[in-house]
Amino acid sequence: MTQSNEMPANETPANETQDTAAAPLTWHDGDMPYSTAFGDHFYCQTDGRLECGHVFLSGNGLPGRWQDAAEFRIGELGFGTGLNACETWRQWKQHRRPGTLLNFVSFELHPMRADDIDRALSRWPEIDVERKALVALWPDSPEGRVEIELDNQTHLTVVCGDAYASLAASDLSFDAWFLDGFAPSRNSAMWSAELIQSVFDHTRPGGSFATYAAAGFVRRNLIAAGYQLERRPGFAGKREMLCGVKAMV
Ligand SMILES: C[S@@+](CC[C@H](N)C(=O)[O-])C[C@H]1O[C@@H](n2cnc3c(N)ncnc32)[C@H](O)[C@@H]1O
Repeated sequence: MTQSNEMPANETPANETQDTAAAPLTWHDGDMPYSTAFGDHFYCQTDGRLECGHVFLSGNGLPGRWQDAAEFRIGELGFGTGLNACETWRQWKQHRRPGTLLNFVSFELHPMRADDIDRALSRWPEIDVERKALVALWPDSPEGRVEIELDNQTHLTVVCGDAYASLAASDLSFDAWFLDGFAPSRNSAMWSAELIQSVFDHTRPGGSFATYAAAGFVRRNLIAAGYQLERRPGFAGKREMLCGVKAMV
């Protein structure tokens, strides 16, 4: 999700193939996955876990909003390494009320292999418990809908396939969205007007989104879809990030 310039201009981004096999990876600094298919890292090189807290959790008013809900549903575009899912689960366990439920539903075209998830997330001792549990439950050949009961108050679903097609076929509505495709210039399908409209249509009234991205066409697509937008300072010196809400009707 941090843009770099390592993809040759004539290379086809992997999301145009619709092949749901794991996409080719290489590793930077030992444990930092880099998608050679998309020419981008999966999260910022400073600290992806803290970035998750700043962008996706705070940007959606979390953990605060968890206090009001019996069931809270998060949608994510791009499961990747599961870092956002693990950090969210960690914070959810600290803040949840007894008897409440978190459903974390992530849409992923190229599900990673368990050993790659393990290698990437080993960077953060803070999420050791969550990483080990996720890796132990992750299927050898993820496909279709991967359903994982993380604990009795936390359910993870990873919908394998193209996010637009999967979401169009879904009748779920979400309280909060984590928009986490690769950089908009490298992964345009994850930021298209059609997909962002579908994300909005699958947002509950009063629901929200957050993203690290601030590109002009992403902002315009979010406004056109119907979100009330807010610009905030990005993580680790990035000038801007975006978040917003769907008005109550
Ligand atoms: C920046 S990474 C997500 C990082 C992730 N949230 C994490 O916690 O590690 C972007 C992800 O979007 C996925 N992706 C790219 N195009 C997609 C598409 N059309 N539909 C669904 N997922 C897609 C990529 O395979 C990649 O895993």
